[in-house]
Amino acid sequence: MYKVNENYLKIQGNYLFSTIAKKVNEFSAQNPDKEVIRLGIGDVTQPLAPVLIQALQDAVTEMGAAETFHGYAPDLGYEFLRDAIAKNDYQARGCQIDADEIFVSDGAKCDCGNIQEIFSTDNKVAVCDPVYPVYVDTNVMAGRTGKYNEAIQGYDGVIYMPCMAENDFVPEFPKETPDLIYLCYPNNPTGAVITKAQLQEWVDYANKNGAVILYDAAYEAYISEPDVPHSIYECEGARSCAIEFHSFSKNAGFTGVRLGYTVVPKDLKSNGVSLHDLWARRHGTKYNGAPYIVQKAGAAVYTPQGQAQIKEQIAYYMENAKMILEGLKKAGYQVYGGVNAPYIWLKTPGTMTSWEFFDELLQTANVVGTPGSGFGPHGEGYFRLTAFGTHENTKKALERITKM
Ligand code: MLT
Repeated sequence: MYKVNENYLKIQGNYLFSTIAKKVNEFSAQNPDKEVIRLGIGDVTQPLAPVLIQALQDAVTEMGAAETFHGYAPDLGYEFLRDAIAKNDYQARGCQIDADEIFVSDGAKCDCGNIQEIFSTDNKVAVCDPVYPVYVDTNVMAGRTGKYNEAIQGYDGVIYMPCMAENDFVPEFPKETPDLIYLCYPNNPTGAVITKAQLQEWVDYANKNGAVILYDAAYEAYISEPDVPHSIYECEGARSCAIEFHSFSKNAGFTGVRLGYTVVPKDLKSNGVSLHDLWARRHGTKYNGAPYIVQKAGAAVYTPQGQAQIKEQIAYYMENAKMILEGLKKAGYQVYGGVNAPYIWLKTPGTMTSWEFFDELLQTANVVGTPGSGFGPHGEGYFRLTAFGTHENTKKALERITKM
């Protein structure tokens, strides 16, 4: 009889956002007259910018003619896109990243989940708590953790690094030395940021201890304050200890189009073995590349017009963030994030748990958010709202919440 991968049996419940979607669908089925506003999953609501639509349409036309048709994409992605990324996201910021260190993919979630494959299952993993569930779940699936432990509300073998208001949601170095360190800034779910000096300390720590930082920069475009690094490669020494993930979902609205990229510098080596070569091998074996038409739209993001149009869209969402942040503060809530990130992290009222607040909000205000405890035990007593709604819905949701 065949056997299943028993590591999957260790995973707690369903994927957080699937659980929420199920609860909300049940509520809507029972209350068809209620208009539910979804500020749970960080999914965008604004249409793609005109310059991106034009690029998609032009690329579709190209695909319809034999002379301009494109089949399989090159393993690492088209050069036109990798060049634009290297130039705009790195070299323009003084970071030494070359186009051939960039791997184009269909999104940061897949890359964040798959990257662990190139590391030994013996490696110790450190994550922030609260944390984007993908980092932990994919390591559980790979057998890099022990069982789920109710007492710590986490998996044995994982190093959880508490991120609380007391430490501005930036973790301290753990007691036990990790091999793989997941960091995400601007942070999902707390909306917090890390300063360049703090990130430099993590880079120094990783280099000193022979660890790799897996840096998720999916929300980088939302940074509005100075001294907040847009890339880990702004720090000295990061080329020898960090892999960085980027998404086109949040900055350019590609959640339904799918495009992202991962940077694996050629200096990253473990006992002389290049991580770049391993990831290239994995990419070439298991992946056939993001579609040509999507990569063309990705390149359009870097044109002057593209930059102007996506900036407007980001400003639109950040107006929502400001509205939520100020509205909740006025109503007496303790709130965090929302300044350099499209997420607002709020303390639940009184002694309410995150899920109790979720239920109350859904039943009373018909608004959906994400319970903080779904991101880890230090998320208990917190709640996340996204700024990715429309202005109208965000305003309505806020009125309903503050009336509660
Ligand atoms: C979130 O809501 O945390 C994100 O949208 C999920 C994702 O990007 O996969």
